[in-house]
Amino acid sequence: MHIVFAASECAPWAKTGGLGDVVNALPRTLVKLGHKVSVFIPYYRQVAKAMPHAAVILPSVTIPYPSYNRFVRILDGGVTDGVQMYFVDCPEFFDRESFYATPSGDYPDNAERFGLLSRAVIEASKVMGIPDVFHVHDWQTAMLAVLLRSTYYFDPVLRHVPAVLTIHNAGYQGRFSPQTMETLLLPWEMFTFDKLQQDDMVNFLKGGIVYCDALTTVSRTYAEEIKTAEFGNGLEGALQQRSGDLFGILNGVDYAEWDPAIDPNIAAHYTADNLAGKQECRRDLLHAFGLKDVRDETAVIGVVSRFATQKGFDFIVEIIDRLVQEDIILLILGNGEEYYERLLVEMAGRYPSKIRVQVKYDHVMAHKVEAGSDMFLMPSRYEPCGLNQIYSLKYGTVPVVRATGGLEDTIDEQPMSGGNGFKFWGYNSDALLDALQRALATFHDKEAWVRMMQRGMAENFSWDKPAQEYVRIYERVIQNRS
Ligand code: ADP
Ligand code: GLC
Repeated sequence: MHIVFAASECAPWAKTGGLGDVVNALPRTLVKLGHKVSVFIPYYRQVAKAMPHAAVILPSVTIPYPSYNRFVRILDGGVTDGVQMYFVDCPEFFDRESFYATPSGDYPDNAERFGLLSRAVIEASKVMGIPDVFHVHDWQTAMLAVLLRSTYYFDPVLRHVPAVLTIHNAGYQGRFSPQTMETLLLPWEMFTFDKLQQDDMVNFLKGGIVYCDALTTVSRTYAEEIKTAEFGNGLEGALQQRSGDLFGILNGVDYAEWDPAIDPNIAAHYTADNLAGKQECRRDLLHAFGLKDVRDETAVIGVVSRFATQKGFDFIVEIIDRLVQEDIILLILGNGEEYYERLLVEMAGRYPSKIRVQVKYDHVMAHKVEAGSDMFLMPSRYEPCGLNQIYSLKYGTVPVVRATGGLEDTIDEQPMSGGNGFKFWGYNSDALLDALQRALATFHDKEAWVRMMQRGMAENFSWDKPAQEYVRIYERVIQNRS
């Protein structure tokens, strides 16, 4: 079958988090299973820098807007591992410093920007070939399903094409003023509580939830959690209504990129049977954070993360004065919300021999942290899947996580017989400190620690099984609509 992915991120072209990893890896696995996959993302400034001379496939696709029409070009991003990449070129919307926001907040025209992306993918498909199924991701392309079903857009061919929405994060919904209905030429009868309206806003994610043929999210536990008020962020009702069409499929890992036996970004290679290289990676990482002569008994705790409330940094800040009493070094790589940047830099300033923070997005450094740390910390308030803890398992870097969403589904703490990491349930910092202390106690029992590392390294979270689950969902929605 031919599957068209529409998304706001796809690594290595454009990535701020796990969405970019998924939109890169899942299509390649679907191709291996014998399907044809095309992926559309915006021709952001960053993408244009990486591929300035992308060939023009469609020179002018008209996107109607009430004020004036926009014209976009569809560019050829080439074929990688069988996946055809397309870029939607609209410099007015995408030739900007970043993808979604400036440091002071979201771009004010995000509704128009991502509404245009969704409509461009539909228009381009009409010319380039109608797919068997559209697969959209998060609020940024959820509107594609709404546009497909909107009466203003009624098309005799497209009405038979189903759309699947994957919710990577229900905390970001794309909420815009009611005026957006007119901006995107959507009929006002869609602005009701059973359709696009949530509170007094147009809600893109809700539109996708209502209009997509099937919904998936990125772990089993999160699929249950988002049907509750605590995690649904107001959309729990809409999700409960669609619960028969909502599936939790755990993300996979691209082991061609995340495997210490072959990773070109790290100082030395290693495997579960020969861990010697990990020590060298640890030294290299400490050096990269400006530290040297750290004893082997000191536990190096790594963090790689977007700086956002979701990730639980306030729990870390709350325990820090107690945590630094332990024999640890905490290394944090991340960027994002200014509030957390300042908070964490200030925290590191108080304990320079124990805590180091690098505020940046750095692909190579992310790999070095995975390889060189002894433990990986993810105290998320909520976590739809979480990829870093799964990468950590492969790198023999023992995860310490809060038991929520995909963290709950992938990390197993077994006090007596083993397990692959440490986790805490409480929504408080004491529970985090407790889990870290359990991890430190095991760390000091070298044999038990190495066994735990090796158990994690032996696990297999490849994309093969999840991709097959997606295929079953595509088949189901295609059948239901034919
Ligand atoms: P989320 O998508 O919520 O940010 P995930 O754990 O699913 O969380 O995925 C995060 C991805 O983004 C991982 O591939 C991680 O390595 C990467 N990442 C996050 N922050 C940074 C950073 N500052 N530098 C490099 N990579 C980062
Ligand atoms: C989101 C979630 C993260 C998930 C990723 C990829 O950004 O926050 O938990 O792993 O999407 O699905």
